[in-house]
Amino acid sequence: MALVALGVTGGIGAYKAVEVARGLQKHGHDVAAIMTRSARRFVGEITFEAITRRRVITSQWRPGANADIEHISLASDIALLLVAPATAGAIGRFAGGIADDFLSALYLATRAPVLMAPAMNTNMLEHPAVRANLATLGARGVQFVEPGAGYLACGWIGKGRLAEPDEIVEAAQRVLQPSGSLLGRLIVVAAGPTYEDIDDVRYIGNRSSGKMGYAVAAEAVRRGARVILVSGPSSLTPPSGAELIRVRSAAQMHTAVLRHALDADMVVMAAAVADYTPERRTAGKIEKADAPLELALVRTPDILADLGRARGGGSAPVLIGFAAESGDPAERGRQKLLRKGADLMIANDISAEGLGFDSDLNAATLISRDGTEAFPAGLKTALAAVILDRAEALLAPQTT
Ligand code: CTP
Repeated sequence: MALVALGVTGGIGAYKAVEVARGLQKHGHDVAAIMTRSARRFVGEITFEAITRRRVITSQWRPGANADIEHISLASDIALLLVAPATAGAIGRFAGGIADDFLSALYLATRAPVLMAPAMNTNMLEHPAVRANLATLGARGVQFVEPGAGYLACGWIGKGRLAEPDEIVEAAQRVLQPSGSLLGRLIVVAAGPTYEDIDDVRYIGNRSSGKMGYAVAAEAVRRGARVILVSGPSSLTPPSGAELIRVRSAAQMHTAVLRHALDADMVVMAAAVADYTPERRTAGKIEKADAPLELALVRTPDILADLGRARGGGSAPVLIGFAAESGDPAERGRQKLLRKGADLMIANDISAEGLGFDSDLNAATLISRDGTEAFPAGLKTALAAVILDRAEALLAPQTT
């Protein structure tokens, strides 16, 4: 079906790349494996050669490789460049545009989409240098299959383990053969809490985990949408295929959402945005004193209401809000729907035991201008599907 360049770099997960190659072949794709020098310390090239039935590219200095300038000819033939596992080194070389081996030269030479599955030690993954490189690549349109959490080969428990081969193949399939009811749509999802800094140490936050918004983002990706996930601080692994923008405060979330909302078909405000922020942030740490501490708080911008105002009388983007209420959620949700100019409001009762905040479960009332619909207690992933079913019906037909 398609020719996929599978870049294998030197991480312990390199052995899993064999399964990735097989998975791609099962979907009918042809795989050209490229192994970096360090990858060959983990797996032999013969393994990939036997599986892919192609010569494995290990160096740009192999005699013959320059007769047709192999990295250039392969670059124009491939439908996808997939790197699994992608080490911090490979990510850094791609981000820096350093073409010092075949794979990094191929990255610069190809116009095919690029998908990377990072894998490394937790501290390496969280290092500002790696995070900056990932952000640079993300901004250039590189997509990622997020690493999982668990036991790492280095003995740590944490995030950094290469995603499972099935998940990587699925993500590749989404790039190679996009399909789904939201194909061609751009959906912005805001999720998680916001943190409003008081000083360099303290902040005002809330108990939102981000689970509901992340579930909506994952479902939208599954349906073929391009998804921009604007996330406040959350420990969740973002769904692969979504473009992640991390923010901290309500003001930052406001900027990020509004920047992308104009082009979006739908905005889902699942975030628990702080309504107030300290009037000023104190540098350093506020020292305690015997007198009570008074903190002046000012209102934050209301993102959903601003979106409602910005689209005026138009119908795009479709606007979906959430209303966490502790009394008569349906009625208060309906008022918020009208006040903020949204199309659909998902109201839930936060006083219900075991539901809502930080839980995998939720019960909600879906409120539109036409009426209400109850979603009895169920998984947030199931609620995400119902929300998108209803929201899809509100989308204007696509112009091609
Ligand atoms: N929201 C927003 N910007 C804010 C506050 C809330 O976009 N500054 C969005 C939320 O993401 C949610 C909806 O508005 O989709 C309702 O949020 P909620 O906190 O329930 O409503 P508030 O307007 O803050 O009303 P109140 O706190 O008085 O219930």
